[in-house]
This record gives sequence, structure tokens and C-alpha cells, in this order.
Amino acid sequence: MPLPSLAGLDPISGDTCEKLLARFRFTGFTSKLVSEADGFFSGTLRAPRLPIVRFWLERRPEPGATLARLFVYDATLGETEARDALSPELFEHLLDAGVVERSGGGVRSLFLVHPVDPGIYVLSDRLDAGRDAVMGPGGGTEHLARLVPAAFEGRALDLGCGAGTLALVAARRGAKRAVGVDLNPRAIELSRFNTRLNGLDAEFFAGNGVEPVENESFDLVLSQPPFVGRPSEQEERTFLFGGARGDELALAFLAAVPSVLAPGGRAFFLLQSAEREGEPLTTRVRRVLGDSAPHLLVLSGGGPTPATQASVFASFEDPSFGEEYARSARRYLEHFEKLGIAAFGGALVVLSRPTPALGDGRYALGLTLRGPHYDAVSLETFLRSLDLVETPDDVLERSQLRLSPHVRSTLELVDDPNAPGTPAQSAVLRVAAPGIGSDWPVAPAELEVLRAIDASPSVRAALDAIVQAAPALASLRDELLGFVRNALLRGALVRGG
Ligand SMILES: C[S@@+](CC[C@H](N)C(=O)[O-])C[C@H]1O[C@@H](n2cnc3c(N)ncnc32)[C@H](O)[C@@H]1O
Repeated sequence: MPLPSLAGLDPISGDTCEKLLARFRFTGFTSKLVSEADGFFSGTLRAPRLPIVRFWLERRPEPGATLARLFVYDATLGETEARDALSPELFEHLLDAGVVERSGGGVRSLFLVHPVDPGIYVLSDRLDAGRDAVMGPGGGTEHLARLVPAAFEGRALDLGCGAGTLALVAARRGAKRAVGVDLNPRAIELSRFNTRLNGLDAEFFAGNGVEPVENESFDLVLSQPPFVGRPSEQEERTFLFGGARGDELALAFLAAVPSVLAPGGRAFFLLQSAEREGEPLTTRVRRVLGDSAPHLLVLSGGGPTPATQASVFASFEDPSFGEEYARSARRYLEHFEKLGIAAFGGALVVLSRPTPALGDGRYALGLTLRGPHYDAVSLETFLRSLDLVETPDDVLERSQLRLSPHVRSTLELVDDPNAPGTPAQSAVLRVAAPGIGSDWPVAPAELEVLRAIDASPSVRAALDAIVQAAPALASLRDELLGFVRNALLRGALVRGG
């Protein structure tokens, strides 16, 4: 299907945008409805899901379900049904603008319109609509959107913004400046329309990576870069391919972002990365960050198999699953095989630029999580705590730390590290969702140290009390501080106050 023209969007007036938004909200066409509809059949491929989700929506009482069928799930509606759902006035406006069209005796939408929490509506293209199709909000976009603090007053950059969703979420949450950049000029046009549609304040620039904003700095950078490896015979798709291997563009973005990250700023990158023997993603990112490295955290989880990926991407080439689907799936599978990709892993890569007061030390931490169950608050709590891991002793000693509210301790028999093969009783600390951390066996005396720190106004006060009670520990102060740093890395201790 060719890309629809954007020429009709410009003349849509501010008044019509307001009425459209009010209509969407009033009829119950909301992100809650769409996520319930998605939940009815959450298979991976879009085409076979559509008729089944439409069936579910047809049984919903709210008129917004009709709008969801039209704008999210590719339904052709009867003209009366479309007029009633939109109102006759808005129906005519959208027809004039070329957003909807009469087709085969009914009405269909030429664009997707997705509601996104918090109450934003995003117009975008169907992903099978050619090389410059503009990606709207998907599961990954929504994951990143949830990491934008509920009240965010800083400057946000949406790098590779597609239809502008993440910049608009930041603007809605209070960003004093929200900017999006995309290589695809069509993405910029759609993002600008979406800004008007939602009555928000955000700026969008066409260009490569951070180039259009190289003289600015941001407190929050959000990016879901294209991360798929392109087989040489496969037609280019701007939103999808990150190079022949797949991670080239993401690594280039990661290398460039520190130059626009303000002190205290964070960059969140969401990607699916091909897992390659001996080359974990943390190592690849560390390498491209070089000496000027910010802090690096990589939270990894499971991802789809190469077979699933091949099937999803081939369905963009031929959504009817015909000959071209078969050829394309084969091209992907051969390409992944040639690259030696056994699996894909989902990852959130976080770069943090510490404030000068925290010193020059840097950490690089990779954690494998059981699921992406963290939220904006638990992630920020973990990151604020990690900010202390490489600080000078004095800064760490002055800090107030608490046991994470998500940490659970169980008594287990584990191998004694000093006498392998001899089980010893040990407390195992585990961080439950939505907290972030890793399992950590600690000796009973170590658990007491953590509890003492939890009960003290500062690490220093806790260590002083411990040394006073057991003077023999005075010579072990450095080891105790090392233990505290490890507790921060494990997510067991978090910054208080
Ligand atoms: C996977 S889409 C993500 C879209 C959007 N951020 C989201 O999460 O919904 C990646 C986007 O990166 C853009 N892109 C590709 N190469 C780029 C480059 N060199 N510089 C800037 N943007 C680029 C694509 O056009 C596409 O819009």
C-alpha cells in the first residue's frame, strides 16, 4: 500500500483538532480500551490478530470501540456508522483532509491513530506502507513512555522520534522543552501535526542522530532506534533497519548522546539486540562510549527467537502471507544464520551523566532481569543509588542509605565460597518487582551490617557504631565500604532522603 499524502493535514484547524480530541475522549476511545482489545488476542503478527480483535470490539458498548476498529484495527466501516462515531462535522473534515476515505462502499482510515497514556493521540502510518512509513506508538514506545517521570520539568529529547510520541509524552508530563529528531522528513511532518492535534508544545527537526540539536543539552533522552539487521537484498525501511548487523545505528546513537546529556541527565534506549557469543551488549556499548563514558546500565531480558523475528519482519513486506512473505522470511532467516544469531534479547540501556559533586568514577553494569517489571520510580531509585557506587569514600560515607523496600531475605543452604562442596546457611537477598537488583547470598553478619546502615542517618554513623562495638573491624573499613558499594550494585541498599 503506498503512503498516503500529508498535504491535507496542514489545513486542519486548531478548532477541529480540539473537537477531534474531545470526541475521542468522550466516546471512550482510550489507551485503556486499546490495551484491553490487544489483550484479547496478543499474538505477534498483526494481520491475523485484526479480525479477532475487531470481533471483540464489536461487542463493546462504548462508541469509542467503533473508532478503535477504524483507526487501530483497519476496519472498513459503513458510512453511517463512521459518521455517527465521529460526528457528521468531524467526519467531513477528516474526509477532506484525506485521513479517511470512501472505499468499497464503506469508509476506512489511511492512517493509524493510537491513544497513548497520558491521554495523547498519535497519527502514524501502517508499517507495511513502504520504506518511509512512520512508526507510531507500539509496545516498546509505551514502555519508554512509562519511564518519563509523572511530573517532569526538564528538557527531553526523543531521538528517532517517528510520529513524535515520546516527545509529546514528555511535553504532556510538563517538560520545559520537548524536542524530537528523525532522519525521515515525513516523521517530522507527522510529529508536528500530532503536536497540534494534542495542543502541546514540542519542536521537531529532520536530521541524522543528534546533529540537529548538537548545541543543546537534555535532562532526558528517549530512543527506540531501528535495531534490525538488514539482509543485503531487502529493501530499506527507515524505521526498522539499524545496519547490516542491526546494532550499528543504536551504537552510533549511544556514542553521540553523551555530548547532549546534561549533568544529572539520563538517556534511556530500548532495543532488541542480537545475542552474540562472547560479545554481550554491555561490552559493545562500553567500547563505543570510550573514555568520556557516562555511567552505563544495561537491563536485559528475554527476547523473540530469530524465527519469530523473521516472520514479523517478512509480514511487513507481504501482509497477505503470499509469495513475497515466503521469500522475505527466508532472506531474514539466512541473514540471521550468517550472522550467527541464536537469539534476540530485549534491553534497556541507560546512560547517566553524574553531577561533578559525585566524582569522576564510572560504573558499567549489566543485569539480566526476569521480566521488565520495573517502573519509572523504581528505576530512578536504582539509578540514584548506582550514582554513588563509584563516588569517593567521603561522599559515600556522608550518604543516607536504606534497605530497598523491595528486598526480601530468605534463609537458604548455599555453597560456602571458602569451602566448595560444603553447604552453609546463608541469607539470600532478592529484589522483588518493581524493584531492580540481583540475587545476593550474604552471611548473617553482613545482613546485620545492612540493617545497621538502614537504621542510621548516614553510612559513616553506621560504620562508626559497628567499629565501636567491634574494634577489631576498624582495619576493615575499606572492605566495609566495598561491601556497601556492592549492596548498591545489587539493589539491596538504596539512597534514602
Ligand atoms: C523504531 S522507530 C521508533 C519511533 C519512535 N521513537 C517510537 O518509539 O515509537 C526508529 C526511528 O528512528 C528513525 N531513524 C532512523 N535512522 C535515523 C537517523 N540516522 N537519525 C535519526 N533518526 C533515525 C526512523 O526514521 C524511525 O522513525
